[in-house]
Amino acid sequence: MTQQSLSIREAIVGRRSIKKFNGQLVDREKIMQIIDDAVWAPNHQNREPWRMVVACGDELKDLQQLLRDTTIPNWKELSPDSLEKQMQKFTLPGAYIFVIVPEDVRQKIRLEDYAAASSMIQNIQLLAWDNGIGSCWKTPEFLDAPLFRSSLGVNPGERIISMLQLGYFDDLPKARERKKSIQLVTNFRLKQETE
Ligand SMILES: Cc1cc2nc3c(=O)[nH]c(=O)nc-3n(C[C@H](O)[C@H](O)[C@H](O)COP(=O)(O)O)c2cc1C
Repeated sequence: MTQQSLSIREAIVGRRSIKKFNGQLVDREKIMQIIDDAVWAPNHQNREPWRMVVACGDELKDLQQLLRDTTIPNWKELSPDSLEKQMQKFTLPGAYIFVIVPEDVRQKIRLEDYAAASSMIQNIQLLAWDNGIGSCWKTPEFLDAPLFRSSLGVNPGERIISMLQLGYFDDLPKARERKKSIQLVTNFRLKQETE
């Protein structure tokens, strides 16, 4: 990223998950730039435990068809209006990033890799926000469906941990309150065995 407009704090506190996009497409170049920066996330042993499948531009049509076939099996029976309405959650985002992680059989490695990839995803969301691009991390059940996995080229031993929808938006959602540190933190005190 060459130009920075938001401070880290402004990006973290000001970002909202965007679920209603306005249909404007996101440039592939912008997505690639964001990913190049986001991968500077912490990751144990520099395993870089992630890869991504991106859909933008012309690829969106094929992806939307796959999402339609996966989530609305009876779509042929619907009126065009009803189908269009149901599909808006898939047709209005301007780009998609599917984040794929290796699923190591060792729990420690698997959890570390998921944690690292999650940090990387947060980086994507913050960098996108800094570019005026909203995003939402989604985990619908169909991400694990065999046909969906194979359509994305996901290999055995890999898992899609996020369908990131990205795009431009007209309305900023209201912030949902977070707990304060005072509610979350207890000060360290050595527990005595008798306690
Ligand atoms: C692991 C994970 C999975 C999520 N899955 C979904 C999802 O399937 N559908 C959805 O609408 N939002 C999903 N979200 C987004 C959350 O709903 C959102 O982050 C939360 O409401 C807080 O809003 P904010 O991001 O604007 O602060 C997910 C977020 C995370 C971190």
